[in-house]
This record gives sequence, structure tokens and C-alpha cells, in this order.
Amino acid sequence: MPKPLDHVFFTNSGSESVETALKMTIAYHRAKGNGAKTRLIGRQCGYHGVNFGGISGNRKMFGSLLTGVDHIRDTHDIERNAFSRGQPEYGAEFADDLLNVIKLHDASAIAAVIVEPMAGSTGVLIPPKGYLERLRKICTENDILLIFDEVITGFGRLGSPFAVDHSGVVPDMVTTAKGITSGTVPMGAVFVSSSIYEAFMQGPEHVIEFFHGYTYSGHLLACAAALGTLETYEEEGLMTRGAELEDYWADALNSLRDHPHVIDIRNLGLIGAVELEPIAGEPTKRAFSAFLEAFEQGLMIRTTGDIIALSPQLIISKAQIGELFGILGNVLKSVD
Ligand SMILES: Cc1ncc(COP(=O)(O)O)c(C=O)c1O
Repeated sequence: MPKPLDHVFFTNSGSESVETALKMTIAYHRAKGNGAKTRLIGRQCGYHGVNFGGISGNRKMFGSLLTGVDHIRDTHDIERNAFSRGQPEYGAEFADDLLNVIKLHDASAIAAVIVEPMAGSTGVLIPPKGYLERLRKICTENDILLIFDEVITGFGRLGSPFAVDHSGVVPDMVTTAKGITSGTVPMGAVFVSSSIYEAFMQGPEHVIEFFHGYTYSGHLLACAAALGTLETYEEEGLMTRGAELEDYWADALNSLRDHPHVIDIRNLGLIGAVELEPIAGEPTKRAFSAFLEAFEQGLMIRTTGDIIALSPQLIISKAQIGELFGILGNVLKSVD
């Protein structure tokens, strides 16, 4: 678990983990006598799954859904940070957007901020140096709970068990899924601090503390898969393998730097992105062509907008990394 968050609530997916955490923040403030703290803050380029709270960022497609939601800017800034290896230098001040939201609504109206410590699905957006620290400080000063959505970063992706370990920044809650069973059986988990847990545990023993749960929370099969997975991670040192491979991975990724269409390359742990210049007037088309061409050449890539996101299995070998970038290099040379 992401220490020191030592209490866990089991779910069946990342979306359910996010929904659980968001509800928990509102219920927590109520339990502490701060019932007006209900607003939820996300980031513009964020992805938190497909449940009600999670998709409240996707207003273009689904309207406003949850009310009382605001978004601060994401940290994507290739004008200043293009081709940075690891965490980029510039952008800690993006966290100050939260101060504007506080100025607008007052901290007494805000329950929580949810961010992916490294945004995956929206194109591998690496947190600038100092950014998460600044967000933490503003949240603490204003009694706003900070949620790290670690559905992608949890369980080894950044070369440490969690982004919490990688960054040293401790949020109030961490949402997870995917890696907890290595995707073998659906499962998710929300980790919370003791102080949040204790806030709910004030009533008599026979009364339900938090009216929320799923039939399959902590399902036996999922628990067995999770225990087996965690054992394998430990036996094979997979929670830190991303750190061991990071330089090799970054070198291989950066070998694509001078290939056609490439306007940025970024990496952290065992994740990386190649951003392509969009075709004028036809955004996403170039990356989609690359996706089709890569598939033809035996490589499965994930594209989002004109960004190719690469997040290989933690057991990938150096030879396979070489093969991956060999094919991707050919793909970039062949797409228009
Ligand atoms: C950061 C993040 N949160 C939540 C989710 C949703 O997870 P699920 O698809 O398991 O509901 C995802 C899925 O990719 C994700 O990347």
C-alpha cells in the first residue's frame, strides 16, 4: 500500500475507485462538520474513468453531469518542456490555478482535488518538478483533500510501487485498479489515511459508517488474484524494475527524436510518449495512421490525439524494447 495510507476500500475497477474516493471526500467533510465543502476539482486533461464523477471532465460529450465541479489547467507545455527526460523543469506554477478556484468559491466550499500524478490516458503528461508538492501545500493550507488517481501509476509503472513513493508527496487518498491484479481479474482499491478512516468511525458499532459499497467489493477471486500478483511482483522485483530500465528505456525512446513528425518525446519510469505534429486541419489523423501501420507491422500502440503513448509490461526485456522502437521508427518513416 502507498504508505502511510494504511486503510483500504475495495472496488471492481478504476472508475469505481474514483467514484468511491470522490464520495468519500464529501462524506468526510460532513463527518467533520463541514457540510458545505462539496465542490470537486479536477484537471483539464485528466482521465478518471467513466462513472458519474469521473466523466464530469468530459463535458463536451456528456454535458455538465455532476454540478459543483471545476477544472484547473493540466501541465502540458511543450513550448517550454519539449524533449525533457524525466520530470520537466517548467510548470510548478500550474498548481497555483487552484488558488484562483479557491478565490472564486472560497475554500469552505471545496471538498477535494483529484489528479493523476502522471496523466496516462490523455497522453503521458509528466508532472513538472515541484508541481505535486505545490498542489499538496495549497490543499493542506485550505483543508482540501488531495486524491492521487494512481490507476495507471500504481504498482510499479514509475519504477516505484506508487507515484506517492516516487514523488515523496503524500495525498489523502489514492485510487488504484489495473496493476493490483495485473489485469487478470477486475479489481480496484482506494487507499486512505488513518485520519480519514477515523473520521468515519465515531458512531456506535452497529451503525453503518459509510453508506457505500459494491456486491463484489473484495471478491474472493479478485483477492486471490491480487495476492498472487503482489507475490509475483515481489519475487521478480517488478515494483522497481521501471527504475532499473529507465535510462535504457529513455535512450531507446529518444532514438526517435529525429524521425519525421516528432515534436516531443517524454518519459518517466517505464512509460513514455512520442508526440507527433498534427496534420493541419486534421488532428489525430497522423497518429491514427501510425496506429494502423504499427498494427500491420506487429506492434500494438495506444494513441491519444496525436500522441503515441507507450506503457509496456513490467517484464519487458531490453531486446523487446529494441524491437519495439525498431518497428516504431519504421512506422514513423512510413506515415505521411
Ligand atoms: C487514471 C485513470 N483513472 C481511472 C480509470 C478508469 O479505470 P477503469 O477503466 O478500470 O474503470 C483509468 C483507466 O484507464 C485511468 O487511467
